[in-house]
Amino acid sequence: MTTSSSPRDSGTQSTPKPLTQDQLKTLVGQAALKYVVPGEIVGVGTGSTVNKFIDALATIKDQIRGAVSSSVASTQRLTALGIKVFDSNDVDQLSVYIDGADEIDGKGNMVKGGGAALTREKIVAAQSRLFVCIADASKLVDVLGKFPLPVEVIPMAARRVMAQFRAMGGVPSIRQKDGQALVTDNGQCIVDVTGLQITDPRAFELQVSQWPGVVTVGVFALQHAQVCLLGTDSGVKTLNF
Ligand code: 5RP
Repeated sequence: MTTSSSPRDSGTQSTPKPLTQDQLKTLVGQAALKYVVPGEIVGVGTGSTVNKFIDALATIKDQIRGAVSSSVASTQRLTALGIKVFDSNDVDQLSVYIDGADEIDGKGNMVKGGGAALTREKIVAAQSRLFVCIADASKLVDVLGKFPLPVEVIPMAARRVMAQFRAMGGVPSIRQKDGQALVTDNGQCIVDVTGLQITDPRAFELQVSQWPGVVTVGVFALQHAQVCLLGTDSGVKTLNF
């Protein structure tokens, strides 16, 4: 991993107040604009950090053809801001995919799916040449597993998949929304697993992806980030993997 920084304010002598998490998300959302290729279609992820990116993207919307979106929520935001959304099947390879993460390690491997959009996120990431992760500094970890691991599962398989996670030391639960099992954009459920230490993300992703009924595991090692724009109190750090 290589690192470079852009200071947030070089003109002040006094120690600046720490930025809020929301301000850090705004910083990296805006910083991601430099990876958007004029005249092209951009891959857009999901979540509160990506919302900041979408807002920034709207300021240059006349310079791009549009976006491929990874969720109903992002599609609604993009459309409301006047950015055309293309179906992924109507587009060839994308030059860049910009998305957040729940965790990212020092090699660009991520845990994603806190917003339940992991399946479409992995699809758009696979369609893109470059994955730029935008995250505040709290997301950087040594080993993946601090954040509950989201796994999108066909409801019929949930009980068995949960048993398989228990057998590897995890504590699984079905994600709830408004007192019921959350239903994803794809009509499936999410199993969140705590208590895992994912020391070999690639092997873990390959293993769990093969379990019958698993639609998508929220480890992104095969589609890892090549760049992470990390929001810190001293500015946006660029990590290259
Ligand atoms: C959604 C995701 C998000 O990228 C992840 O949850 C981070 O979200 P936020 O930017 O709101 O912290 O994977 O499925």
